Amino acid sequence: MSVFRPGLFAGKVAIVTGGATGIGRAISEELLSLGCRVVIASRKKERLEEAVKEMDPSGKSLEAIQCNIRREDEVQNLFTKTLSRFGHLDFLVNNGGGQFPSPLADVTLKGWEAVIQTNLTGTFLMCREAYRTWFQENGGNIVNIIADMYRGFPMMAHTGAARAGVENLTRSLAIEWAASGVRVNAVCPGSSIYSKTARENYGENDVFETVRPFVPAKRLGTPQEVSSAVCFLLSPGAAFISGATLRVDAGGSLYSNLMWNIPEHDRIPPYEWKYKPPQEGENEGDSGKPK
Ligand code: ADE
Repeated sequence: MSVFRPGLFAGKVAIVTGGATGIGRAISEELLSLGCRVVIASRKKERLEEAVKEMDPSGKSLEAIQCNIRREDEVQNLFTKTLSRFGHLDFLVNNGGGQFPSPLADVTLKGWEAVIQTNLTGTFLMCREAYRTWFQENGGNIVNIIADMYRGFPMMAHTGAARAGVENLTRSLAIEWAASGVRVNAVCPGSSIYSKTARENYGENDVFETVRPFVPAKRLGTPQEVSSAVCFLLSPGAAFISGATLRVDAGGSLYSNLMWNIPEHDRIPPYEWKYKPPQEGENEGDSGKPK
């Protein structure tokens, strides 16, 4: 089970971009398991349909809406549909993103712009629309998922630049929107978070085996370990936290073995739990009204 109490997010509504696979999938599952109603948004219709079948076959708590976050009209449609189905919005998790490994010298302008648009412009459009349509009047809570670019991001310079932009956007909005009751934070998963989708994206070479020795926990992280950080930031337990970045990397972004070598060990085991679709009456007190 999730470490958070059952029903913690009863009555709440969340949008999770990229919510059908990988880290976004784990976030959507944990939110659902805590009584939240979730809209997953992605460009790929088949992925969305499959995810709904697996995550909430009844379709009561989960809605899938096709949306390319690079397109203003599609983002506007996502919020219109979400608000007309669920009546309100509490959480926005900007997880959808994408990049391709390449030395910067070989990146075309088209490739550069595609990565900036998906990761930075898409997050801008999603945040702005959430604010204009609901959060400005009613408050809300945003978590932006970024990437470990703290020592630069060689081979991924485009996404490093975009994610650094999102981290700074997070801080600006935490201030600009505080008086509307909006908290805005970022979660930064290390490159050591293993998911099947991430593995497939990297193609031939097994990046995860290269990364593993440089993780202080000497193991890869799980999407669920990212999800619990997101759920914490969305919870009232984080009521006084805004403009922050929570790194979920077991300290990997701090570690180089120049002065201190961490031996192989298994003293930081993962916390894992199995998702099962929400059952009838499980999250009592879910009136469907904002709480
Ligand atoms: N995930 C990756 N790229 C995306 C996009 N353009 N729109 C929505 N989700 C995405």
